[in-house]
Amino acid sequence: MNTVLVIILAYLIGSIPSGLWIGRAFYNTDIREQGSGNLGATNTFRVLGKKAGIIVTLMDILKGTLATLLPTFAILSNSNIHPLVAGAIAVVGHMYPVFAKFKGGKAVATSAGVLLGYHWPIFVILVIVFLICLKLFKMVSLASMLAGIIALIYALANAMVSHEYYLLIITAILVIFVFYRHRSNIGRIKNGTEPKITWL
Ligand code: G3P
Repeated sequence: MNTVLVIILAYLIGSIPSGLWIGRAFYNTDIREQGSGNLGATNTFRVLGKKAGIIVTLMDILKGTLATLLPTFAILSNSNIHPLVAGAIAVVGHMYPVFAKFKGGKAVATSAGVLLGYHWPIFVILVIVFLICLKLFKMVSLASMLAGIIALIYALANAMVSHEYYLLIITAILVIFVFYRHRSNIGRIKNGTEPKITWL
């Protein structure tokens, strides 16, 4: 029973469309109608500005972390769900949210939150690589994907040392999600039309 409960709760937590709700509640704006049309933190920065962008980034990270911690909560502790699987389900909710007609974000911040909730060093590496790549290339999408690849290399190295294969497998799945959801960005990066940030 608790297994089903964790799956449903993880999906619902991931489904919370932070950017959409913050935009509607405080800016009277539907961020799906502006910028890239994406529901994620990047488009929130683009459309609503830094304050809303930071809040939505934190909320999206928190969704992943909270879902990952669900199986460790005493009341849910006898579920058979691995924390990382609960986290990955939240990422599916983030990408295909029941509260926003199943059109959600690109998996970056919520995936980072999953890794934060399970193994914080990989999150720290992810953030550092992301910021360096953002400074160098000025494209959030490219920085996100490169950070994902480095996180995967870290998880591989970690698996070889600690035999922690769950982290490797779920990180690989999250990176596949990120790349799959960035198909249009990859096309734009290739033909040189991906938008660049101007503030870093
Ligand atoms: O996290 C999503 C980001 O990498 C790209 O978003 O809105 O530029 O397509 P966007």
